[in-house]
Amino acid sequence: MKKIGVLTSGGDAPGMNAAIRAVVRTAIYNGMEVAGIYRGYQGLLEGDIEALTVASVGDIIHRGGTMLRTARCLEFKTEEGFQKGLTMLKMFKIDGLVVIGGDGSFNGAKKLAEAGFPTIGVPGTIDNDLPYTDFTLGFDTALTTVVNAIGNIRDTSSSHGRINIIEVMGRNCGDIALYGGLAGGAEAAIIPEVPMDINDICSTILRGKRRGKLHSILLLAEGVGKPYELAESITKITGAEVRVSVIGHLQRGGTPTPNDRILGSRFGAYAVELLRDGKEGRAVGVKGNALIDLDISEALAMKKTLNQEVYDLAQILAI
Ligand code: F6P
Repeated sequence: MKKIGVLTSGGDAPGMNAAIRAVVRTAIYNGMEVAGIYRGYQGLLEGDIEALTVASVGDIIHRGGTMLRTARCLEFKTEEGFQKGLTMLKMFKIDGLVVIGGDGSFNGAKKLAEAGFPTIGVPGTIDNDLPYTDFTLGFDTALTTVVNAIGNIRDTSSSHGRINIIEVMGRNCGDIALYGGLAGGAEAAIIPEVPMDINDICSTILRGKRRGKLHSILLLAEGVGKPYELAESITKITGAEVRVSVIGHLQRGGTPTPNDRILGSRFGAYAVELLRDGKEGRAVGVKGNALIDLDISEALAMKKTLNQEVYDLAQILAI
């Protein structure tokens, strides 16, 4: 393999820059060239591609976002767009590709692999919704942001004796709400994996009130949504004043945590080593701190399950 392409696609995630840096430097260390493809599959279709050197990826490891920029590309999902993508890869003499992104991006990578183009997927999304890996890149930083937000909201929540609902991202996955809630000491994490029981939530609030706790923090996953309706229902049942904060894209930016920088570096280097060793159509991940790779179709077919132990613990600690 002479030349590796690298792109970031879908929602950006802190740590993507560390992964890009590792792809570029590991490839060069192994005697290969690197083509940086800008704006994901969209940039591939438009030929927005340039050579990356050791220096091109200097001074990026600590930055949020992605230096290659990103996009959600509908055209690449069409047969015509896909064929155009393959032609571009050929035109730019790219022999293998590292795709850094979430499940949508992995579907594109899978299609390329099925068409015989050596492609490796690196899980980059704050959602932590790829079931084959313990962690996706960006999740740890997003959690840190959420926990900081909880801290700030807790101050005003306790001053006013209010209930504060904080809606967090994660698409259909409740991990940001669940782990953020546990780390931030929230009274409840309302997640799509577990049917919501409004009476249960209100009993926790009222129980707290009886022992003199006048404020509560509720973490709500966007996959459940409707924070303002929930606020109204809680006020009706408990009489409490409720405020809503939808923290949105705050969670997608910021300097990556050391964990995300380390994970990104390990993922990026491993992806290049797989291509160097003639492996293709693989998804890179981490299990119990060991790097793993498995068939990308298998990885995509897996179903994410709730970590019941963590959920139960969060419930117990919120009594
Ligand atoms: O997949 C990452 C994510 O941030 C989700 O949590 C969220 O639902 C979505 O992307 C938001 O996408 P966009 O930035 O395109 O609005």
